[in-house]
Amino acid sequence: MSCYRIMGGRPLEGRLTVQGAKNSVLPILSASLLAPGRSVIENCPDLSDVSAALDILSLLGCRVDRQEDTVTVDASVLRRFDIPERLMREMRSSVIFLGALLARMGAAELSYPGGCELGPRPIDLHLAALRALGAEIREEQGCLRCRGGSHLHGRELCLSIPSVGATENAMLAACGCPGLTTIVGAAREPEIEDLQAFLRSMGAQVSGAGSSVVYIRGGLPLHPGHCRVMGDRIVAATYLCAAGAAGGRVEVTGVNPEHLTAVLSCLQEAGCEIRTGPDWAVVESTAPLRGISPVRTAPYPGFPTDAQAILMAALAGGRGTTMFVENIFDSRYRHVDELRRMGADIRASGRVAVVTGVGRLHGAPVRGTDLRGGAALVVAGLGAEGETLVSGLGHIQRGYDGLERALAALGADIQRVD
Ligand code: EPZ
Repeated sequence: MSCYRIMGGRPLEGRLTVQGAKNSVLPILSASLLAPGRSVIENCPDLSDVSAALDILSLLGCRVDRQEDTVTVDASVLRRFDIPERLMREMRSSVIFLGALLARMGAAELSYPGGCELGPRPIDLHLAALRALGAEIREEQGCLRCRGGSHLHGRELCLSIPSVGATENAMLAACGCPGLTTIVGAAREPEIEDLQAFLRSMGAQVSGAGSSVVYIRGGLPLHPGHCRVMGDRIVAATYLCAAGAAGGRVEVTGVNPEHLTAVLSCLQEAGCEIRTGPDWAVVESTAPLRGISPVRTAPYPGFPTDAQAILMAALAGGRGTTMFVENIFDSRYRHVDELRRMGADIRASGRVAVVTGVGRLHGAPVRGTDLRGGAALVVAGLGAEGETLVSGLGHIQRGYDGLERALAALGADIQRVD
């Protein structure tokens, strides 16, 4: 079993370019199904979730090729519209293929995506949106059998929760629905603007992404698209919080600092010096992080749930007390017990966790149980006294492309050991 071995206590120093955004490239890869021909996606990160998505595209009949960080998807001939259980299990967010398959093939079959480490991951809003667009969806023995075809038509949709995935699935399905679709209550995450840009490069008429109302005029002929995936704001937040945890000065480039406002303001309140430019941000930390006002996770532009564990890990080794409220997922505190093994003083109950900085954590063998929880343990290890062994790298590799290489280049003492 592989793990990261980290000798903490070394300040970080340097500059790195952030990988392409996982949560942007996944819906964009799904969108490449919408038109026959060869789409080109640049700045595509090398992640296990991306490999799983490429496997699904290949299975459906696409010709997929990767040259370094450029992926091409030729969706000229699709052989099938069903995604087998084994591939659904590899990546629960494969549900994002549902809308695009319905739009292109008029049909889609996939097994119910299971829950994950964050608790139940319902897709009721996805299914309600697609049914409102005219899809017939039967749920049989854990399998979703969807039919659309000539029944699909544009209309107004209202999302009761600004679900990222449901917004994206509705946008993709709506591209195959003649007429105007209006998604009211849409998620406003930047990844949805990235998806809109790719759809527009395919000839789709989409507008409003980034606001809570998205418009799609569907049923138009589409052609292959070309895009460059935006920088991953959560990966950027990870490196910046690592600077907060270990001390030093880290600059991340290739990311829009406006996508990081909530995280940067927390780091600034904790005592870091922050500077930003058009596509970069710098965090400098010269003293233990202070406690800050309550961190409440919320849909964008609120504090991102994906950065909750990462910021908590940085604050746990500082001074002062901070309350976290996790409002998006039911069980996103599984990293708390592992941080406590490193000496953290964190009390979690329901959606609330109270972190009291202990000045310095100590190294310990710990296990990542989900993607961002695993990254949080690495952040904690960088600032801890002594050696930390982080296992559960399979989770981390879902979302981080070369984490240990990037941190080592910043001066961290981190190796991957088997
Ligand atoms: C996306 O997940 C991201 N994943 C998640 O990132 C991220 O944490 C999440 O958005 C919130 O920002 C991808 O983009 C691949 P949601 P998604 O639908 O779309 C409830 C990471 O670490 N809900 O916005 O699944 C749901 O239970 C991952 O990179 C319903 O009730 O999230 C949750 O409480 C983790 N019914 C809330 O909405 C539905 O039909 C927000 O979920 C859909 C969602």
